[in-house]
Amino acid sequence: MKKIIVTGALGQIGSELVGKLRAIYGTDAVLATDIRAAQQDGPFEILDVTEGKRMHELAKDFGADTMIHMAALLSATAEKNPVFAWNLNMGGLMNALEVSRELNLQFFTPSSIGAFGPSTPKDNTPQDTLQRPTTMYGVNKVAGELLCDYYFTRFGVDTRGVRFPGLISYATPPGGGTTDYAVDIYYKAIEEGKYTSYIAEGTYMDMMYMPDALQAIVDLMEADGSKLVHRNAFNISAMSFEPSQIAAEIQKHIPSFTVEYDVDPVRQAIADSWPNAIDSSAAKAEWGFKAQYDLASMTVDMLEKLKK
Ligand SMILES: NC(=O)c1ccc[n+]([C@@H]2O[C@H](COP(=O)([O-])OP(=O)(O)OC[C@H]3O[C@@H](n4cnc5c(N)ncnc54)[C@H](O)[C@@H]3O)[C@@H](O)[C@H]2O)c1
Repeated sequence: MKKIIVTGALGQIGSELVGKLRAIYGTDAVLATDIRAAQQDGPFEILDVTEGKRMHELAKDFGADTMIHMAALLSATAEKNPVFAWNLNMGGLMNALEVSRELNLQFFTPSSIGAFGPSTPKDNTPQDTLQRPTTMYGVNKVAGELLCDYYFTRFGVDTRGVRFPGLISYATPPGGGTTDYAVDIYYKAIEEGKYTSYIAEGTYMDMMYMPDALQAIVDLMEADGSKLVHRNAFNISAMSFEPSQIAAEIQKHIPSFTVEYDVDPVRQAIADSWPNAIDSSAAKAEWGFKAQYDLASMTVDMLEKLKK
């Protein structure tokens, strides 16, 4: 990675990823793009990922050798507008893959634990297993994993990717996913001392703290490609918990903090269709994936950063 174009760069992941990439590779080595404008410390262009010609021109003019494709509609939002989600998630990905093929770019895009469905084994979910998701987001992610594999085997594009779990961060609010509660709960703990969870007690999902997610992207992109058997869509997770466990961890620091439940049937149904805990052993074996943060150390850091 020497010259990197990032799509959806103002989102929960992109906004922090761009800073990390600029710190490693240089400010001018990273072109941030998004459909909306924002103040940036380095190169920035407006780009709607459904416009393939403009994506090609921007990547070419920048002299990019790498594309990191982040623009997408997330699980809960996609369920509200499935046709729009299909057009954005699949149309944007197709354009990004085509530009990568045309300009010979290394390519990264994230899949998700949403690529699994109710018939997937729920515990220690294997890297290679049944994937019959019941959400539009999940359908998009499975199709995306397959498309990325196709561009590697058919055209030799150096495509790589991970299945991210729910990502927890303090810099940019999450963009409408099912695991957003695990971010909201920290804000509400500090602001109001109480939280009403839309996810039911006892619902386990995989999670990861943002610094580990960003490091995973860099490590996978820098890994020796000849060692990657599962190029696209490596299972990676740092922890699995349910709402009362994160609440208990917060109570260690804010003893008066309380949680109530008012379950949202749409997001609960999505959560119920996802694994409890996935197996990350292929990522560990093929490119050395390792997470630094667990629930306890993440909670200390989140509360400290948010209080500031
Ligand atoms: N955040 C998570 O917990 C999580 C977990 C698993 C996978 N992922 C995946 O990671 C990727 C990035 O997720 P995120 O959380 O940063 O999303 P986000 O919703 O926070 O950000 C998405 C960004 O894309 C931009 N965007 C929307 N439509 C666009 C368009 N037509 N053209 C260009 N940009 C457009 C938005 O303005 C936004 O800045 C997605 O593929 C998502 O599915 C995220």
